[in-house]
Amino acid sequence: MKITSKTGPLMAPLPTVMVSCGDMENSNIITIAWTGIINSNPPMTYVSVQRSRHSHDIIAESGEFVINLTTVELAKAMDFCGVRSGRDIDKFTHLGLTREAGDHVSAPMIAESPVNLECKVTEMKSFPTHDMFIAEIVAIHIDDKYVDEKGAYDFGSMDLVSFTHGKYYRHKSTELGFFGYSVMKPKTAKRRRKKGK
Ligand SMILES: Cc1cc2nc3c(=O)[nH]c(=O)nc-3n(C[C@H](O)[C@H](O)[C@H](O)COP(=O)(O)O)c2cc1C
Repeated sequence: MKITSKTGPLMAPLPTVMVSCGDMENSNIITIAWTGIINSNPPMTYVSVQRSRHSHDIIAESGEFVINLTTVELAKAMDFCGVRSGRDIDKFTHLGLTREAGDHVSAPMIAESPVNLECKVTEMKSFPTHDMFIAEIVAIHIDDKYVDEKGAYDFGSMDLVSFTHGKYYRHKSTELGFFGYSVMKPKTAKRRRKKGK
């Protein structure tokens, strides 16, 4: 049996990312769970930000931001960036995080995060509670310790954090399958086993 709940912004699991904005001198970090991918080519993402956030005006003005993925090690800093405003505190300095210059945007990347996505805003859509900044992902930086010699990414080892209904969860590294594994031919399965995949 299932109970019918009142409706709300429920989706699970959601990423919870640290979005850096501003520039190398005046920067801020906001925690964002309302994010995702909306197009493959060009790769496009969005962040939905309430108009009251300090970061909202910075992103609206600069048209740039960086999405930094959150690891278990960064979880407390991520939570802090979601409960304190950059109006009152320099979050980079307070948390001892390192600003790293990006290649295409002025917003600093968080060096301690294993994955940084440089984003350029192409459009803003207003909703009753949030403004959605739609952006192109113009560059991706991944810590090389998570990239193998063939260039494959090992997200399972990153120990990423997700957010569901007010709580944080560890993204466990137990792989269940891969894209298309439900229709894999026996021959392909054999070849993969041979390669130790
Ligand atoms: C886990 C988590 C997820 C959040 N997701 C969002 C979000 O998607 N959009 C938003 O506007 N605020 C979100 N917030 C709240 C902002 O991060 C928070 O208000 C922050 O203090 C704003 O910082 P700023 O004023 O420096 O921009 C989230 C907070 C937490 C803890």
